[in-house]
Amino acid sequence: MNTETPTPPPATGRQTRILTLASGSAGSGKSTLAGALAEQAAVHGLTVCVIGLDRQRDVSRLLGYDDPDADENLPTLMDVVDGLCTLDEALVPGRHSKTGEILPGLWLVLESDKLDALTLKLAGVTARELWLTQQLKQLEGRFDLILLDCPGNMDLGTQNALIAGTEIVGCTKSQEKEARGLTALEDKIAHLHQSYGFLGMRDGLDWIVIGEGVTNISQGKLYFEIEQQVREAYGDLVVAPTVRDDVKVPEAYSASLPITLYNPKSDAAAAYVAIGKAMKLYS
Ligand SMILES: Nc1ncnc2c1ncn2[C@@H]1O[C@H](COP(=O)(O)OP(=O)(O)OP(=O)(O)O)[C@@H](O)[C@H]1O
Ligand SMILES: [Mg+2]
Repeated sequence: MNTETPTPPPATGRQTRILTLASGSAGSGKSTLAGALAEQAAVHGLTVCVIGLDRQRDVSRLLGYDDPDADENLPTLMDVVDGLCTLDEALVPGRHSKTGEILPGLWLVLESDKLDALTLKLAGVTARELWLTQQLKQLEGRFDLILLDCPGNMDLGTQNALIAGTEIVGCTKSQEKEARGLTALEDKIAHLHQSYGFLGMRDGLDWIVIGEGVTNISQGKLYFEIEQQVREAYGDLVVAPTVRDDVKVPEAYSASLPITLYNPKSDAAAAYVAIGKAMKLYS
């Protein structure tokens, strides 16, 4: 079993895709998607970095670090904000939360429960909305894929991630509240684009992932119709397949593992593998 700390990837000039996972309402499957896509992309040979921006620290936990704040030797994104280390120095290897085994090709910048102070901390920084864009320059050309897991609000952390992403992934569920959240997210992107479009910021959603859909119509006609509406409204932006309701997902959450590691044979894991393919992360 490999638990030895590897060296962070060097600059190779490779093309780095930066996927911002965002939603207009909380609990839309962002962290579940981030954990599963990161794990699968690494398994398929990509060099991956996950940066979570949420004080709930869900994606950090899923990728091996239950409570980063409890270990003062572990750097977090908040240490980067505080100038205690660089983003490069904050990289830690992803690991299996149960065995401690290193997940090859997978790296993280850990979240902190102090991330709720991010807005306050960045308040005095010049061009505060661009802080993450600037920081990510240290990682570009070193990773194939960077995933930014936003919190369930539109605070400065999410705004930074929306500006920094080369692709924006809207996460939703086939339920009214979450589907409406997509519109709120689009409004925020459009607003930010007015100011930051000249820097190359995306002008809209690039992908939409629907999670926790109903398994069949009889399970909930209304939910099915909302899913249809989202597909009709957004067409090809909506990635196939929808991740159906699967009890293995909350089980994986409790076990602090990405669903693709917890139960690779589950329907949800298969759906996430297919979503990664549909997004052309791997073939
Ligand atoms: N396909 C699914 N089947 C069943 N439960 C699911 C599925 N996908 C996600 N969930 C559950 O929905 C909840 C929210 O998921 P998740 O934490 O990924 O959302 P989030 O968008 O990251 O939330 P937040 O906005 O709070 O960060 C979790 O408890 C997760 O286990
Ligand atoms: Mg989350």
